[in-house]
Parts: sequence; structure tokens; C-alpha cells
Amino acid sequence: MVFFLPVLLLTGWARPSLANDTLPVYTDGGGHPVSSPYDYQRAGPNGPLLLQDFHLIDTLSHFVRERIPERVVHAKGSGAHGYFEVTRDITNITMAAPFSDGVGTKVPLTMRFSTVAGEAGSPDTNRDPRGFAIKLRTSKGIWDWVFNNTPVFFIRDPTKFPLFIHSQKRNPQTNLRTPNSQWDYWSQNQEAIYQILILFSNRGTPASWAQMHGWSGHTYKWVTETGDWHYVKVKVISDEGINNLNATEAKDLIASNLDHNTQDLSDRITAGKFPSWTVAIQTMTPAESLKFKYDVNDMTKIWPEDEYPLLEVGKIVLDKNPDNWFAEIEQLAFSPANMPFGAEPSNDPVLQARLFAYSDTARHRLGPNHEQIPVNCPLAVDNFQRAGWMRVDGGAGTLPPGAANYPSSFEAPVSFTPRPYNLSAIADPNNPQGTVLTSYKLSPRDFEQPNALFNTEFTDVERQSLVDNVIAALSSVTVPQIQQRSVDMFACVDPALGEKIGSGIGFKASSPLKCGE
Ligand code: HEM
Repeated sequence: MVFFLPVLLLTGWARPSLANDTLPVYTDGGGHPVSSPYDYQRAGPNGPLLLQDFHLIDTLSHFVRERIPERVVHAKGSGAHGYFEVTRDITNITMAAPFSDGVGTKVPLTMRFSTVAGEAGSPDTNRDPRGFAIKLRTSKGIWDWVFNNTPVFFIRDPTKFPLFIHSQKRNPQTNLRTPNSQWDYWSQNQEAIYQILILFSNRGTPASWAQMHGWSGHTYKWVTETGDWHYVKVKVISDEGINNLNATEAKDLIASNLDHNTQDLSDRITAGKFPSWTVAIQTMTPAESLKFKYDVNDMTKIWPEDEYPLLEVGKIVLDKNPDNWFAEIEQLAFSPANMPFGAEPSNDPVLQARLFAYSDTARHRLGPNHEQIPVNCPLAVDNFQRAGWMRVDGGAGTLPPGAANYPSSFEAPVSFTPRPYNLSAIADPNNPQGTVLTSYKLSPRDFEQPNALFNTEFTDVERQSLVDNVIAALSSVTVPQIQQRSVDMFACVDPALGEKIGSGIGFKASSPLKCGE
């Protein structure tokens, strides 16, 4: 009978000359010193490996679990820490912290910028909207502003979101992104046209995350102490103004630096050139909303700034890079449902759906205790949630481990704040009674704001880049019906735009042209 003697293979590794007595000793995951990170055990000098070799098994098994699911959208991104400062008293509009804490109040925040459709390793300068998410740690709980760098969105019916995203992501058969499905979707769902104009202008390829604005897109309800409320949209305005790449510059950067915007943000902060934004709001009273030309809950529409002027209310500065990207950026979990008392959702159906979707995806991506991960954790939290995967504190928040885990009649670990759940639910003139099964229908009015964007807001350069970029994109579409529908869509914005794009790909707008009639 042959006995194999376990042999510890010493790889000859010794800590280079840095070694001194003050350095920590290398250990396995259980804290046991191990002679070298490269060592492993074999049954004889050339024999198979041993199951008893905890160090090797621990090293490999932890390594193969290093990845968590990437975000299903907005997977590629990065961010930094900073603060929000209140610069105006708006307690006549909201009682929400930090505004209720007074002018000059500063709260810590973390921001994450992202592209939407690409995977975690995809290029920063792809044509795409940019995510613009802000986690404010207020005295009354987390307030997540989960915004984009565009004032409107592609959809106003929440059920469309997964289908729209499927059309923009990879084909299940070929694993390729296909212009056919992108334009097939867009040309069939033309309420997206305002966002498409922005996306295919050079605003679709921002030069720097510090040089783009963010918008809430949605309408929210901000409520005062007396229950009085306004509809509110938020705009976060870059103090440097906006700066975009043209299509050639964006493509060149894809070839030379996939992480152009990530690096730019990090370099700016390292150099002390802190990115900053001015936060402004637009407000509308419930009575005004009834006179507004569009549905106040339709997020494919802007509120014109000359009719609903911007009111500056705060300042954002990013002044600290993450020390640990995974802990502080990848594990960030935002949710539009995270709002302090005094801010409420409107009845925008897309917002209502998002209130559910984000915490749900965080439970999948990070687990049920994602709110206790330090970067997501509120400044104070005390409740009866206990245990679950990766729970590492004794109780919820500041409560001692032995505190009652239900509302006890013997001890009172928490006090209760009587408050109605939804103050503004009282008298919402935009919520007529009755159950409906519906989605928005396209109408000619859906082309009015895109027409104004194209003719009065875009510069000549933006108009030309839009035309060139759309021609380049539609030239890759191989289905003539999709190309025709797309040309018709642009002709509905403006006949001259339809004519230019059509002639670029050899099509004429249909006659008669149907624009949502
Ligand atoms: C990320 C769903 C609409 C902005 C995400 C994620 C999901 C999601 C599942 C990944 C979150 C994570 O893994 O942590 C949806 C659904 C929508 C919708 C179901 C509509 C029904 C919107 C809109 C905006 C937006 C309208 C902007 C106004 C963002 C941003 C992120 C994100 C900025 C990235 C957050 C981060 O940096 O972690 N969305 N989304 N989304 N979404 Fe949405």
C-alpha cells in the first residue's frame, strides 16, 4: 500500500524587500496566517491536490463569487461623493428635508452616472441617454433623485419599458445589437420622438459627466406643512454648461479609451476641479395643471421654461472619489420610492411603476439588506426588520440587539410619528374617479414640442448632427418598412427634417402623412 504524504508546495515566494514587522500578516479568510499566498498542497511533488487545503479552496471559491449581477440597465457607470447645499427657503413649496432644515444646510450625497443599454464593460461614449442618479442623505431619510440627462423619456406607459429595453439591447439569437429592432420599436412608438431628437443630436454623446444637466423627467408632488402642494420638476444645471462630442470624436474615444467619462470624473476630482451643479425647480399648482396643454403626468413632455420658470434652490458639489469602487459605487442602490415626507410621487404611471421596480431589483442584485450597505444606509434607521442574508448588525439601525422586534407593550424601542401616508392625495384634480385599463394613444400634439426643440432650441450644428447621425443609424436598418416609418416620424416633426433624412437614405415621406391622427 502506498501512502501519499501531503506536501506543502512552497513556491519560493517571499514578501519583497518591503517586509518589516509593522506590516499585517497574510492570512486565509479565517484569519489564520498562511506562509505564502501562492502556496497549495499536493499529494506528493507531482500528485493531485488535497481537499484539506482550505487556503486554496477558500481563495478559489471566494474568487469565483466576486461578481454580483450587473444592473439590467445602466450597468456601465461610475460616480463620486459630495454634498448638496440648500440655497433658498422653499418651505412654501415643501416641508421635505433638507429644505426644511434651512438655507445653508449641507447634506452628504453620492452620485452615479451611467449609460443605459450597454453592459458593465461597454464604452462610456456610446450614443445613449446618461443616468444621473443622486443619493441625498437627509436628516429625514434618504432622498434618491434617479434622473437622466434628458428632460423627457422614451415612454409614458410603464409596460413598455422591458419591451423597449429589449429592442435596444442584444438580440436573443445573435447576441448582437440590431438597428432593425431599435428603429422598429421607435418608429412604432412615436411618443419617443422628443427623446430621439436629443439622442441623435450630439447631446447623445456628452463629453464629460460634469458638463451635462440632469432632469427629474417625472412630475413629483411637493407638499407643505399645511398639506398645500405643487407639481414639481427638478433640473440639475451644470455650472460649466453642456459640452458634447460629435459622432467622430465619440467613436475615436471608443477606440482609445473605453472609460473616457469615468476617468474624466476621477481626474477632475483628484485635481481639485470639483464638478458642480445648480439645482432648480419648476412648479405648477394643481389649478394651473388643468390649464396646461399636455397631461401633467406625461413624461414625454417638457414644461416650457418661459411659462414655468426655473427657481434655483440648491447647489451640488462632487469633491471625493470613492475609496472602494465596488463598495461605494457598484453596490449603490437607488430607488425613486426613497423620498422624505414632503415629497410624493405624482400619478405618472412610469414613476408609479418605478416605485416598485428599483427596490425589487436591489433585492435581487444586492439582497434584502441592501439598505444596510453603508453607501445606501440612511443617517438613522430604526424599525423591526431583522436578519436575512448578509445582515451584519444586531438590530435595525441604532436599536440594541436585544430590543423588541415588534411593537412591544413592555418596552418602547421606537416612537411613532402620526402622519397620513400621502398628504397630497387630497383633491388631485388630475385624478378623475373610475377604473380604467389604458395606455396613452399617439396624437398630433406629440410632435409639437419636438418641432419646437428642432426649430427653435437646437443650433444649426445640432440640427445638422441630428440629420447626419440619424442617416448613419437608419442606413444600417435593412427593413424598408422600418426606414419608411422612421422617415415619416421625422417628417411629422418637420417636413424639412423628413425630407433631409429621407433623401439621405433614398426615401420620401408618405403622402398623406399620418402623424398620430
Ligand atoms: C436604473 C428600471 C425608467 C433612470 C434602473 C434599473 C432598473 C430600472 C431595474 C437598475 C437598477 C439597479 O440595478 O440598481 C426602470 C423601469 C422604468 C425606468 C422599470 C420605467 C418603467 C427610468 C426613468 C429614468 C430612469 C424614466 C429617469 C428619469 C435610471 C437611472 C438608473 C436606472 C439613472 C441607474 C441608477 C444607478 O446609477 O444605479 N432602472 N427604469 N429609469 N434608471 Fe430606470
